[in-house]
Amino acid sequence: MSSLLINYHSQSGSSARLAAAACRGARREAGVDVRVSRVWDAGVADLRAADGLLLVAAENSGGLSGALKDFLDRVFYPAIDCGLLLPYALLISAGNDGRGAVRQAERILSGIPFRPVAEPVIVRGEINATHLTASEELGQALAAGLAMGIY
Ligand SMILES: Cc1cc2nc3c(=O)[nH]c(=O)nc-3n(C[C@H](O)[C@H](O)[C@H](O)COP(=O)(O)O)c2cc1C
Repeated sequence: MSSLLINYHSQSGSSARLAAAACRGARREAGVDVRVSRVWDAGVADLRAADGLLLVAAENSGGLSGALKDFLDRVFYPAIDCGLLLPYALLISAGNDGRGAVRQAERILSGIPFRPVAEPVIVRGEINATHLTASEELGQALAAGLAMGIY
């Protein structure tokens, strides 16, 4: 069975809601084990156990939230040493932008290198039903790709 890791950080709860929605969507796909973890609790062992990765966090000060940056800094060399080549997607919560967080994440992840397999999803402002639906669809699409073995 393939495994999807949804790894998130959330300071005020927005990204946590998006991660939960992505998880709901992913769990609609049979044959994929979906795990949800806070970035503080995750390390390279969790990445090694996964076949795909969804990173969910806020944009802070024009870049990645510090917690997600910390996670990527911690796993960067260990992931390279293990030869990890995970397919991934990004789900970013932002006040009015989000592009800086996407740029920074893509730049770091390309160095491991992990492979983007979906367009990044940025949601701006208060979380609403459209944002939650987009998150569910992203989670389901990733899980479906894993289930079909297309990554
Ligand atoms: C310290 C700080 C910096 C922020 N910087 C940005 C920013 O550069 N661009 C942006 O669009 N939103 C910015 N925001 C807004 C957050 O991205 C937004 O509120 C997000 O939904 C928070 O998600 P969270 O509750 O999961 O942490 C910032 C918020 C904080 C607290």
